[in-house]
Formats: sequence, structure tokens, C-alpha cells
Amino acid sequence: MHISLRQIHIFQTVAHTENFTRAAELLHMTQPAISMQVKQLEDNTGLALFERQGKRIVMTVAGRAMHTYTCEILAQYQGMVETLEELKNVHQGYIRVSAATTSIYFITRMLAGFSKLHGGITVSLNITNRKRLVEQLQNYEADLVVMGEPPANLDLHSQRLMCNPLVLIAPADHPLAGKKDIPIANVANEKFVVREPGSGTRAAIERFFAEHGHTFSSTLEMGSNESIKHSVIAGLGLGVVSLHSIRLELQAHVLVLLDVEGFPLQRHWHIVTREGKSLSPAAQAFKEYVITEAARYAQDYQQLLL
Ligand code: PGA
Repeated sequence: MHISLRQIHIFQTVAHTENFTRAAELLHMTQPAISMQVKQLEDNTGLALFERQGKRIVMTVAGRAMHTYTCEILAQYQGMVETLEELKNVHQGYIRVSAATTSIYFITRMLAGFSKLHGGITVSLNITNRKRLVEQLQNYEADLVVMGEPPANLDLHSQRLMCNPLVLIAPADHPLAGKKDIPIANVANEKFVVREPGSGTRAAIERFFAEHGHTFSSTLEMGSNESIKHSVIAGLGLGVVSLHSIRLELQAHVLVLLDVEGFPLQRHWHIVTREGKSLSPAAQAFKEYVITEAARYAQDYQQLLL
């Protein structure tokens, strides 16, 4: 069976676009040339890799099996090219970093510090929720991932960066503000403003209430921590957010932390790569920078809980 790297690239582009014409545009080829390459690939493997579903071209079972490997092959290939390129000049490079939505409150500041030291390295920062980060790790779409708890079902190399305390927030004039040791039952019936399904923060809150025999009722689902904070300040409900996200609001006294039993929930930030993925010198430098800075940030944020 002979499969060329070029065919793998074409296969991957068709798999992602689900459309021969769009794949042809992206690869600067003609649509018949794409169809012919896919046909050859199917002849070589002896299997149908795609099937038509209306206007979409979707992968068959064999196509999906092949896709698992092609993601890895192309990531390895790209890693090889980048490493060889960067060996020519270690001060240049391109790093794909994906980070959890909630990490925006520190990862951007770390990125700014890193860029000052390494002006020739371009960092592409993709901010998304936990569910999508796990998918990106699965498909080797990022060099480095900054996330909460790493998923247990993938071969990963992960290093703990710092604590990510999840705190229960209320508007400053809430009747429970300033009270000590509030039982969970006293807030379980309140309305909560929560992150979207797929968020690591949301999953942690659901787990916490379930473990303590309560369900919580959400009034609103929001795709960002900023929207949650504004909704809580406006009195739409209580929220559970990372301590990293509310530094300014605590300083401005528009939000308060409620001292509810079990809070803050203790999560941690990690920097994660796929096991066996070799990092380019630029990516390695970024990883080391983030690890060093995290120790400093951890101390800084701890002050907010005092
Ligand atoms: P999130 O992830 O931004 O998707 O909630 C944070 C976490 O997993 O702790």
C-alpha cells in the first residue's frame, strides 16, 4: 500500500472541509484533481474513505480510522519542519498555544512578558473551553495547552502550574455577604449564573453540588466569565468563577466572595502536551517561561483570598 504525504494532506483537508470544492480552494488545486487524488487513495487502500451525505462529503468508518493516524502523522511532520527551521535560528519560530477560556486572565500577561524577551517568536493563542481543548489534544492541533485538570484518557505529558481556586461570588449587597461558614443548603436554592456545557468550571460546580447531595438551578448560561460577572453584579444570581477572573471587581468592591462550606473549590492549572510530541526550541522556551511565571502568579493571587 503506497500513500504519499501529499495524499494524506489532501485527505485531511477534505475531511475537515467536508467539501471537495472548498478543499481544492484551500490547497490551490482544481476540484477534479482533488477527486482524482481521493479516488487513488481509495484504490490504494482498497476502502471507501468518504461518502456523500447531501452536499457534504463525510468520512466512512474506514475514513475515520485513517483520520486518527493522519492527524498524528501531519503533526509529527510539522514538528519536524519547525524543529529543522528553528535549528537554523533558535530566536525565531511559530508556536500554537491553546488555553482555557478562564486562563485569559493570566496567560495574556505571560504572553506579553515572553514576547518582550523573544520578539522573533510568533505565538498563535487560541482561547477556548475545556471540551474543545481536549479535542485539540486528541487531534494534535496545538503544541502546548494550558488547561484545568488534564483528561485521563489520553497519553499526555502535563505539569501543574498553580492553583485555580473557584470561588462563590455575589453582588456586594447580598444578604449573605460577610457571613461566616454558610452551609451549602443556604445557597443551594439560589439561582446561579453558570458557564456553558463543555466548560471545565461548569463541570467542577456540577460535581461539587452532586457530591454534596444538592442540585443547583441555573437561571442563565453564559459563554464567558465576563458575562457571568456582569450578571452577578446586576443581581441575576450567584456565580462560581475562578479567583483569577475577579481581581478588579474585588478591588472595586462590586463583588464579594461568599464563605460557603467547601469553597473555594480547589482546581489547578496545567501545561499539557501529547506524550512523545517533540517541542520546538521556541515552544520549549515558552513552556519554561510559563512554568517560572506561574510560581510568581500563584503567590500574587493567594493574597486575594486573605
Ligand atoms: P473553562 O476551563 O474555562 O473551560 O471553564 C477552566 C478549567 O478547566 O478549570
